[in-house]
Amino acid sequence: MDSFIIRGPSRLEGSVRISGAKNAMLPLMAATILTGGRCILDNVPDLRDTRTMMKVLETLGIPSGLEDGVLSIDATSVTSFEAPYDLVRTMRASIYVLGPLLARFGKARVSMPGGCAWGPRPIDLHLKGMMALGAKIRIDHGYIDAQTGRLRGGCVILAVPSVGATVNIMLAASLADGETVLENAAREPEISALAGALRCAGIEIEGDGTSTIHIQGRESVEPFRHSVIPDRIEAGTYAAAALITGGDVTLENCRPGQMHSVIDKLEACGAEVTVTDDTMRVVGPKKISPVDIETGYYPSFPTDMQAQMMAVMCIAGGSSTIVEHVYPDRFTHVPELRRFGAKITLDGHVAVVSGVKKLEGAPVMATDIRASSALLLAAMVAEGETKVLRIYHIERGYEDIENKLRALGADITRVAD
Ligand code: EPZ
Repeated sequence: MDSFIIRGPSRLEGSVRISGAKNAMLPLMAATILTGGRCILDNVPDLRDTRTMMKVLETLGIPSGLEDGVLSIDATSVTSFEAPYDLVRTMRASIYVLGPLLARFGKARVSMPGGCAWGPRPIDLHLKGMMALGAKIRIDHGYIDAQTGRLRGGCVILAVPSVGATVNIMLAASLADGETVLENAAREPEISALAGALRCAGIEIEGDGTSTIHIQGRESVEPFRHSVIPDRIEAGTYAAAALITGGDVTLENCRPGQMHSVIDKLEACGAEVTVTDDTMRVVGPKKISPVDIETGYYPSFPTDMQAQMMAVMCIAGGSSTIVEHVYPDRFTHVPELRRFGAKITLDGHVAVVSGVKKLEGAPVMATDIRASSALLLAAMVAEGETKVLRIYHIERGYEDIENKLRALGADITRVAD
């Protein structure tokens, strides 16, 4: 397992190209199962999760190849209907194969994903959605065993606007007989991106980006070519890096129009943010102002930016409150940030961060994708050397992060443990 050694403090300056969005790419890769042909995805980031999903597809008998950001997937035939535990446990999004396998073949056997670093990650809404469309589901030795004839369109009301459940139901509904109406759907840009690809594949979809989505199922879905939208969480992470280091960073190939809640908080901290349709320049202030943050479902402040903004608040000139509404236990980064000298108290899903004058480098442990990026932010502003262990977590969601940060002026090197 590799680690990063970061020496601080540093000030980031320059421009960085934002990669394709992991959370848009994964649903699109699963959608190819519906088509029975060769699909092409452009602007695909080469991440650990990209490779994992390619392996999941390969176990189904679907070969793929990634070259220079272009992913070719041949879903002509499928030789297995099982997504095994050893892959699903490393990436929860493997469950996205459930909907398309059921819709196209009437069967699927997918390992339960289990929990993650910060607690249980239920999938009850995914299963309720499949059953609402006619599937029979049973849990058998830790696997979801699903069978059905042709799925039937129906009305599905999600108790929570779950991104993953919305993805699975949209994919299943694409080949169902009749119309599916999905209420309380997730409104994330990645959902609209998936709807755009499905439209290219001939599926009639309306309402994506709102809480109610209508999908007209068809007998077949055409192979499609689609470009992955830029990653708004990667963009937010580099914006936070400019903020915490008092730097001046321009993000290229991003979508500020999908980041209003994050931009509002950057500006509240004192950052100067200048945007065009596809760029964002962030100039950090001399002194960071404390801000209170509450995470929520899109378009509220994203839970995937909570850890990064907590790192920024560690050196703000005052006290900040961070309330985590989506994953109440998502605070594995707190004990690691405390190792830098951060002053953070936790009470249930509320964290209070009292800004300190400076952080000191220390050995710390990455625990999940976004918590790990928060540790890199703290390390870049901390005095002295930091060693971040288990950086495979970071590699799951941030393409080429060490070279991107080094090009901006960070002192970061990779060491093999
Ligand atoms: C997606 O996860 C993202 N992952 C997560 O990003 C992100 O944090 C999350 O959405 C919320 O925005 C991908 O897109 C691959 P949910 P997902 O279903 O779909 C509850 C990252 O770092 N829930 O929207 O798994 C759940 O417990 C990752 O890139 C149920 O109760 O999240 C949570 O409280 C981390 N039952 C809420 O819904 C279910 O069946 C939102 O979860 C499903 C979810």
